[in-house]
Amino acid sequence: MSRYANYALDSNSYDTTRIPVGVDTILACLARTEIPLSQQVLLEAGCGTGNYLHALHPYLGSLSGIDFSEGMLTQARKKLDEQVDLTCGSILDMTFEGESFDGITCNQVIHHLEEGPSAADDPSEWKPNQFPNVTRFIREAWRVLRPGGAFVINVTTHDQFRDGYWWAALIPTAVSRLIFRMPDLDQLQQILTEAGFEIESATPELNGILQGSSYLDPEGPLKEAWRAGDSTWSLVTETELASAQHRVEQMNGEGTMQAWLDEREQSRSKTGQTTFVCGRK
Ligand SMILES: C[S@@+](CC[C@H](N)C(=O)[O-])C[C@H]1O[C@@H](n2cnc3c(N)ncnc32)[C@H](O)[C@@H]1O
Repeated sequence: MSRYANYALDSNSYDTTRIPVGVDTILACLARTEIPLSQQVLLEAGCGTGNYLHALHPYLGSLSGIDFSEGMLTQARKKLDEQVDLTCGSILDMTFEGESFDGITCNQVIHHLEEGPSAADDPSEWKPNQFPNVTRFIREAWRVLRPGGAFVINVTTHDQFRDGYWWAALIPTAVSRLIFRMPDLDQLQQILTEAGFEIESATPELNGILQGSSYLDPEGPLKEAWRAGDSTWSLVTETELASAQHRVEQMNGEGTMQAWLDEREQSRSKTGQTTFVCGRK
């Protein structure tokens, strides 16, 4: 199991640079289940600091979250009432009984499940990934979901990793390392289908920005807490980071940063940062 991001540390600043995007899309998919939303029992797999659970809470019957980072769960407990059941554990091997949930959502977690090149590894030297852990998680989701239930996964596709984040162009090798760890949309849909899910929709979220108002901070890459909001920065070498920061300082100093950000925003507005896949059991 991969642990390239240090969530014990990043949990302290995570909420300053992350907001839940696409909550309406998740609710729309869950609402197509026979059981009314207000009576559904929902699991968020890899719930982190609980931002999605918090946003979904008013609409659902009951909520559970599972995450293997105690640091992230500590932050989640601060914002969620005691009725939300939080479990510390791996989503690859969940302790829940079979068919325990009416719906499952998983937001921005899939790229953390596989081994892959870390900072300093050359991604081109790695063999193609067969995604055993993603497959294992999806089978676990199938096991704990009730028949007819929705499984909503929010992922970043390979194109979105490249074009949906302005800083990706500053650290292209780190983006390649990350992409290695992540099935692209067609591969993910194939894994879901092979596990038994019927794909109802795969919708790019063109407007939502995961980093909220902190996204377009032109000095963001210079700040550790800002970089902690996106795990791609965990995959840069010191040299790659120094070179990215030098470029940021240069563009800010020359007054060309805004024009460059505008150009990058053109790309993001076409691809979006995330895609929501809705599978039905
Ligand atoms: C980018 S954060 C997303 C958190 C939350 N879903 C959100 O969107 O705000 C990724 C989360 O996945 C968790 N995670 C990664 N691999 C996991 C695993 N195998 N089992 C449980 N949690 C995992 C991390 O601890 C982290 O909290």
